[in-house]
Amino acid sequence: METKDLVGKVVFKDNQPIHEPEELELIGQGRSAAVFRVKGTGVAVKVFYPDFKDLADIEGEVYKKLNNHDFFPAFYEKGEGYLTMEYVEGITFYDCLVNGVPITEEMVEYVDRALEFAYNLGFNPSDTHLKNILLTPDGQVKVIDVVRFTQNFDCPHWRDLKKAYQTFYQRRFVPKKIPRFFIEFIIRLYRRRLLPI
Ligand SMILES: Nc1ncnc2c1ncn2[C@@H]1O[C@H](COP(=O)(O)OP(=O)(O)OP(=O)(O)O)[C@@H](O)[C@H]1O
Ligand SMILES: [Mg+2]
Repeated sequence: METKDLVGKVVFKDNQPIHEPEELELIGQGRSAAVFRVKGTGVAVKVFYPDFKDLADIEGEVYKKLNNHDFFPAFYEKGEGYLTMEYVEGITFYDCLVNGVPITEEMVEYVDRALEFAYNLGFNPSDTHLKNILLTPDGQVKVIDVVRFTQNFDCPHWRDLKKAYQTFYQRRFVPKKIPRFFIEFIIRLYRRRLLPI
């Protein structure tokens, strides 16, 4: 079945996927889309929630300009309300914290390089947070979710994450495995601007 037809069979209710065809496996969700793997393939389909459909076109154009650089998942095609790209096997930096997988300085520098690469193409890399960075089993890092690279206001997320990395995470006594509820608590404080960062 063609991707377009598979996407047409995904059912959303209140911006939540409630049904998908059996060829698709839900692998992640964000604020604007649900991401599925086409079972048995290396293809991921990002299906935007009905209210965010227009973002597909924008993100597709960003991916085209990023020109399949290794810093990002390879881009395949864009369609009405969806994108297809390389399925990246791996875990997010968020999962690294939950599972105690060390986030190394090299990994952080790699993200810096990815964002600088995008910046040099004229983008304003934005919204790079813990769930938008993947670590693969062989140690590669990929920045996903590039849709907000086109916005023109300043996004402090990655800058603030790096600061937290340097001033907190890298300290010797700080545990590298952090309970999910605690991460969520910190994220909530951060969003309410209650952290001294
Ligand atoms: N190419 C991919 N390969 C593997 N997993 C992916 C891929 N793209 C997305 N994911 C998973 O799906 C989740 C949601 O994708 P994405 O971040 O693109 O959605 P979003 O709605 O734009 O997110 P946000 O809330 O950051 O705006 C990711 O956090 C990740 O776990
Ligand atoms: Mg995301």
